[in-house]
Amino acid sequence: MERVHPVSKDDSRAWVAALATTLLGSPYDDDFPRRVDRWTREWIPERAWAYRDHGRLVATLATESRMLTVPGPGGSTRELESDALTGVTVAATHRRQGLLTTMIGDSLRAAKERGDAIAILIAAEWPIYGRYGYAPAAFGAEYTYHSKRPFAALPAAPPGSLRQVEGDELGKIAPAVFDAARVLRPGQVDRPHPWWDRRLALDGYEPIGKQPNWILHEGPDGPDGLLAWRVTRDFMLTGALGEVEVVEFVAATDDAYRDMWAYLGAIDVVGEVKLTDRPLDEPIRWLLGDARALQLTSTYDYLWLRLLDVPAALSARTYAVPGRVVLDVHDASPGGYATGRFALEAGGADATCTPTPDAADLAVSQRALAACYLGGTRLRHAAPLGVDELTPGALDRADVMFSTPLAPLNQTGF
Ligand SMILES: CC(C)(COP(=O)(O)OP(=O)(O)OC[C@H]1O[C@@H](n2cnc3c(N)ncnc32)[C@H](O)[C@@H]1OP(=O)(O)O)[C@@H](O)C(=O)NCCC(=O)NCCS
Repeated sequence: MERVHPVSKDDSRAWVAALATTLLGSPYDDDFPRRVDRWTREWIPERAWAYRDHGRLVATLATESRMLTVPGPGGSTRELESDALTGVTVAATHRRQGLLTTMIGDSLRAAKERGDAIAILIAAEWPIYGRYGYAPAAFGAEYTYHSKRPFAALPAAPPGSLRQVEGDELGKIAPAVFDAARVLRPGQVDRPHPWWDRRLALDGYEPIGKQPNWILHEGPDGPDGLLAWRVTRDFMLTGALGEVEVVEFVAATDDAYRDMWAYLGAIDVVGEVKLTDRPLDEPIRWLLGDARALQLTSTYDYLWLRLLDVPAALSARTYAVPGRVVLDVHDASPGGYATGRFALEAGGADATCTPTPDAADLAVSQRALAACYLGGTRLRHAAPLGVDELTPGALDRADVMFSTPLAPLNQTGF
């Protein structure tokens, strides 16, 4: 078997074919050319790995540079460039021979050498990535909004604030609206060019699947909200109401957020609105006359995170309250990149994290720290991953410091 790295552009089509075959697709699918296009237009050989056997690629892995929103001062946020793992497959004929372990070890080493403080991914299955040091750090939620129940509706949006939009106009507006919205919550991952062209089938990208209706919200300062929905169940003349699914809900202001919910509640002949990739602390429930009209139907981990450089990662974000805590970090995963003792000192708008010989207040595993990094989980709750309080009170102090006003959320697959 031959390890292939870098993977040349000449091999990129075969690489996508291997990926498609293992992830429940096929190179003979109608959308295969689109998948090839998605990957190969921006191909970076040094960020792709593969294995070849008998002339055929049997394993794939790639990484991309993506900006991750992290907690900032006073409820604001900052951004941190991260190593985003994607395209991970090992053919069923070659599983459990250590191919993933070798490729991911290589890719994490490359990220560390590049200077990335954090690595991120979305896991197809929970048990795969813990052994490589990743931990779930942001959760998504699915809701059903029973919009026609008594007291479920919101006051109508002001006339003129919402309009349907499509094509090139949408392509010009969408990236800026999303960029303004994604810095409102830790956990968001950016959508670099040509993400929106692919999404909206512009610039020669082929459309895929049933296209949604796009609704734009405009406030006093211009476009500040985007909504996309499509019908999943028709209404009937018996009186049974239909169902729609929301495939994008991006709000950069409170007004856009409220008005888009009001719009969803007012779609005629629709009684159920399904939403995915929403936050666990969905604020709309506090505006509804009957919050039981909004049912949380499921939650799922939608961003895993691994710390590669503890001082860089911990000083890149800020903390809810000033404080000092010395962390003894143990990184049991391949590479052990995060191991060390570090003093985290948080002031108002800034934090420092530096190696220290001082006695530790907390002994934590890298994975426990990674799970809590975006503020979505408390160290106390991540204790099964390895958290020991060495100075009384240090765990409560750290939990308050790491907490964030909003639950982290990622709305972007990669
Ligand atoms: C997940 C996948 C990439 C693993 O590749 P692999 O080359 O078989 O992994 P390795 O041989 O390096 O396995 C390393 C260890 O992880 C374990 N492991 C790997 N995948 C696992 C899974 N899905 N569930 C539980 N354990 C898993 C292996 O048992 C092995 O453990 P061991 O060392 O104790 O024996 C492969 O099974 C696959 O392609 N699955 C389908 C596509 C997919 O889910 N991709 C991930 C997209 S995010």
